[in-house]
Amino acid sequence: MKKFNINISGGGSTFTPGIILMLLDYQKEFPIDTIKFYDNDGERQKTIADACEILLKERAPEIKLIATTDPKEAFTDVDFVMAHIRVGKYAMREQDEKIPLKHGVVGQETCGPGGIAYGMRSIPGVLELVDYMEKYSPDAWMLNYSNPAAIVAEATRKLRPDANILNICDMPIGIEEIIAKTQGLESRKDFEVDYYGLNHFGWWTDIRDKNGNSILDKVTQHVSRYGYTMGGDDLPGEEASWNSTFKKAKDVQHLDPETVPNTYLKYYLYPDYEVAHANKEYTRANEVMDGREKFVFGECQSIVEKGTAEDTKLETDDHASYIVDLAKAIAFNTKERMLMIVENNGAIVNFDPTAMVEVPCLVGSKGPEKLVVGEIPRFQKSLMEQQVGVEKLVVEAFEEKSYQKLWQALTLSKTVPSAKVAKDILDDLIEANKAYWPVLK
Ligand code: NAD
Ligand code: G6P
Ligand code: MN
Repeated sequence: MKKFNINISGGGSTFTPGIILMLLDYQKEFPIDTIKFYDNDGERQKTIADACEILLKERAPEIKLIATTDPKEAFTDVDFVMAHIRVGKYAMREQDEKIPLKHGVVGQETCGPGGIAYGMRSIPGVLELVDYMEKYSPDAWMLNYSNPAAIVAEATRKLRPDANILNICDMPIGIEEIIAKTQGLESRKDFEVDYYGLNHFGWWTDIRDKNGNSILDKVTQHVSRYGYTMGGDDLPGEEASWNSTFKKAKDVQHLDPETVPNTYLKYYLYPDYEVAHANKEYTRANEVMDGREKFVFGECQSIVEKGTAEDTKLETDDHASYIVDLAKAIAFNTKERMLMIVENNGAIVNFDPTAMVEVPCLVGSKGPEKLVVGEIPRFQKSLMEQQVGVEKLVVEAFEEKSYQKLWQALTLSKTVPSAKVAKDILDDLIEANKAYWPVLK
């Protein structure tokens, strides 16, 4: 069986060790020859790479690991690029969250003004990775989960239309795993779903068990009472902010009781509640820096100090198994049914054909073939049109270096109450993002 060469871009990510452990779990089905870490912060990446090297030596010595900041070395002779970069790192995520909150507006990584600001930083970062891949391994595929995935996907659709890039998200998978538990099923693989929307902005319209019988009614009843929790309680091992998100899904679900929603719709449908319950001094970025980042980097340092990963608490990232499923679908033409972020082009019949939508696709060696969703209801369609408008305006603003269009994007976001507030936030964001954004005219 062919052995694959994988580039992991954003080698210094907190998710890298989990991805490595997950890849090790799949060595029989998806064997690897070489893994190449690429990051533009060599020092951050080194901590993760040194630990992963020890771990690989102990568990799969046949796999070669290279960590580099040189694009040529990193992108030459690879089959897949798994990309999870965060341009501006957590320091800028903190700004994305705190600046809007200062103006009484939702402060979030991918939704509202924070997502727009992050989008303006991510677009050039991801385009650069695409260009390296096309230059050094033109037949490779990029599996991109760098956020904000919706804006990044619109940017690559428009600015790199021929690139082999697939934009994906683990949120529906995380929610489906919870749904499976609520129904007493082992995993999401025990059912098949119908779903439509945008990234971080969608709805499940059917869930069928292995015999093809719909279990949607049981799921809607559960979510309408408990959200994405077991009986209203915190999910064990979940952080405080995620538990409140999973609980709030109950209120989001009441807007359309026939479906179940993506959790992040709460930022658009209950922004006043979100702002009122946010801690303006200590946001999710702080929680992640004090939690996941400290833990992952601490574990990696301790592996290096001890010279062994035998007793490490680092765990395989279960959600990330969809990344291997996707790589396998392309490598072996499995035609697996997966939710992907793709150009609509008729899948949602009554919706902009050029919008990047999240819908079920059959994935094979030529990429995703989308399944027809049909017509969607007016409520969802109208919300989605507004949000697609925001995402397209951000990409146009980036392309044209246009202050005007970015102001329009912020004004159009459902999370922002007025053009005046949009302008105040934008001016603060421009100041904070000087090192990353193009100078706007
Ligand atoms: P992180 O800051 O720990 O890691 C990101 C890494 O990217 C850093 O090491 C940084 O130095 C590097 N980087 C930044 N800009 C770069 C560039 N231009 N070129 C090369 N490397 C660059 O962040 P994290 O919390 O581990 O998240 C990583 C990314 O994965 C984020 O974009 C996050 O939103 C995304 N993510 C997406 C999903 C999804 O479902 N789509 C799920 C989880 C995480
Ligand atoms: C979900 C989303 C990702 C997002 C992540 C944020 O998994 O699908 O797109 O990056 O949540 O998680 P964090 O723990 O960094 O707040
Ligand atoms: Mn996501």
